[in-house]
Amino acid sequence: MIVVFLGPPGAGKGTQAKLLSQRMGLLHLSTGDILREAVKNQTPLGLKAKEYMDRGELVPDSLIVALIEECLPEEGGVILDGFPRTVAQAQALEDMLSSRNKKLSKVILFDSPDEVIVDRLSGRRVCSNCGAVYHIKYNPPKREGVCDLCGGSLVQREDDKEDVIRHRLEVYRKQTEPLIDFYQKRNIIFRLDATKDIQDLFSELEGILKDGR
Ligand code: AP5
Repeated sequence: MIVVFLGPPGAGKGTQAKLLSQRMGLLHLSTGDILREAVKNQTPLGLKAKEYMDRGELVPDSLIVALIEECLPEEGGVILDGFPRTVAQAQALEDMLSSRNKKLSKVILFDSPDEVIVDRLSGRRVCSNCGAVYHIKYNPPKREGVCDLCGGSLVQREDDKEDVIRHRLEVYRKQTEPLIDFYQKRNIIFRLDATKDIQDLFSELEGILKDGR
């Protein structure tokens, strides 16, 4: 199974991808997580990507497509979280899969209004050590500011400041929303109401993925 998670920043794609990967044993491939790790380690990719990410812009297609070509496994199920994000990336993914005699199983669209996104992203905190994701109201850690899993300190992402969030939403509307039409034409897109709470959303997601359509 190869599934794409599509939707605005902060709609809950990463949260659901982690749950699904644990439940179904799929590989969770998040371009955002891979890029943040590259930035942290100051690799050549990280050095190129940082300025785009801090501004809430998309990293150039050529870098992202090369990254996916390197990371996409030959075998086994995958959740693509945050890729593709432009029509050029979607086309490149189709070509990549068809050269391996594979195709996308489903695209899940996380649908959410802007007020919910801003509320979720401004309250998001991530572990500076292991990357675990929390929310100060909806998914708080047991001890304020401390990761439940590894004891690392929780921080706010640079791109989760309100002005950058608004810009990321504009970028999403302009560059990523056209993918809804792209996948509707292929009849593989399924819409989720992402305003639901984490567990309800997960049950709905599982239902869609287990449905043989
Ligand atoms: P990326 O990391 O992919 O950011 P994003 O798409 O903007 O998504 P987020 O990680 O912000 O949100 P999410 O939907 O995963 O939500 P989450 O589950 O954390 O990309 C970052 C940057 O990298 C981009 O801006 C770009 O520069 C670059 N990049 C990445 N991929 C690229 C590509 N393909 N091409 C070009 N550039 C690329 O949830 C958010 C918060 O809400 C959390 O606090 C969580 O606890 C909480 N929450 C989650 N679900 C719920 C719920 N159901 N109810 C209440 N709270 C919830």
